Amino acid sequence: MSYIKDIKLADEGKKRIAWAERNMPVLSSIKKEFERDKPLKDVKVAACLHVTVETANLILALKAGGAKIRLAGSNPLSTQDDVSAALVEEGVEVFAIRGENDKEYYECIEKILTMEPNVILDDGSDTIATVHSKSSKIFDFWDPTTKSSGHEELIDGIFGACEETTTGVVRLRALEKDNALKFPVIAVNDAKTKMMFDNRYGTGQSALHGIMNATNFLFAGKDVVIIGYGWCGRGIASRARGLGSNVIVVETDPTKSLEASMDGFRVMPMLEAAKIGDLFITAAGDISVVRREHFEEMKDGAILANSGHFNVEIDIEDLEEMAVSVSEAKENVMEYKLEDGRRLYLLAEGRLVNLSCAYGHPSEVMDMSFADQALSVKYIVENKEKLENKVYSVPKEIDDEVATRKLEAMGIEIERLTEEQVKYLNSWEMGT
Ligand code: ADE
Repeated sequence: MSYIKDIKLADEGKKRIAWAERNMPVLSSIKKEFERDKPLKDVKVAACLHVTVETANLILALKAGGAKIRLAGSNPLSTQDDVSAALVEEGVEVFAIRGENDKEYYECIEKILTMEPNVILDDGSDTIATVHSKSSKIFDFWDPTTKSSGHEELIDGIFGACEETTTGVVRLRALEKDNALKFPVIAVNDAKTKMMFDNRYGTGQSALHGIMNATNFLFAGKDVVIIGYGWCGRGIASRARGLGSNVIVVETDPTKSLEASMDGFRVMPMLEAAKIGDLFITAAGDISVVRREHFEEMKDGAILANSGHFNVEIDIEDLEEMAVSVSEAKENVMEYKLEDGRRLYLLAEGRLVNLSCAYGHPSEVMDMSFADQALSVKYIVENKEKLENKVYSVPKEIDDEVATRKLEAMGIEIERLTEEQVKYLNSWEMGT
């Protein structure tokens, strides 16, 4: 059973998955070990991830390890339909179609849950929230109309879950704080080998790629406003500067604001930046960071793009209320004409631009993120008796292992500590 666009797309999907695999050496090495050792034999995995070529390689690695897998898309606009088709031909049950509406999106999540999973892989925590929805306050916030009645009956069978993204981890920590988390979760996002590379270099490149694809925007000489200076914002700001933009950072955290300033960017409140920007890119992980009061100040022709996980960062309701007309300027670009004649352009319905208008992060960085995922799934299975209902960091050994294998694959040899240096680092006696 599957729910995909068109099985005839499978051949194209297979070629693209094979191409990505060439650039995912760490995940490939784990796949080989999984094939040999079958650490996930008969483990049922329900995955809700962006259906991309990189995700396909993760899914195939888990399958090689013996897992039985169902996959749903983690965003209505991020599914690559040829990948869904290829995975179905590989024997994976997939429930994802690019352009599905919110109701279909949640129905797909329901479908992966009917397998009664042992492990959940989530990106944004919609699946974990769906399982918890009865006891969790946070789920109501997202979409009360499509809320399921919860799946308490599944909880005993779930060994644990992995969460891929910052927004999902923030939600899970809220669930943990409410004492409502019902199974252990590993915050894969927070692994160094994930966050410092996928979030920074992955988002930095793919967000700009998506904007260029949708608009053919020239970054050189433009005023580009980045909202949020976490790892993603840092990456986007640095890449936009690399293309010659004058970058402005809007950030609420004082330390990150200082960092942005000393990184050489102008820092200011959103209301001021709104007057200057040619392009606005949100990466804040929060709701309505760009809203009515800002739209009122923007220049004619300003472009609005979101690279955060959910489509809540740009207040589209405000934009719709203010517009006298809304029309499609071109694929993935909606024009909002305001009463005074100014036109604002919203990309991909405010959904994450890097996956809606481009391919998502390059395989090289997803290699590490998904190596962390694969080893974390194995860790959950091996430690299921010991783990408590908490949000765990990725064990340091896994993080180090992924970094070491990546360096090896890149042919980079690094300096090693001498015995004397190790001793020094473990002692307190020696000073000036
Ligand atoms: N998130 C961002 N980029 C991605 C990709 N290429 N595949 C899966 N998830 C992603």
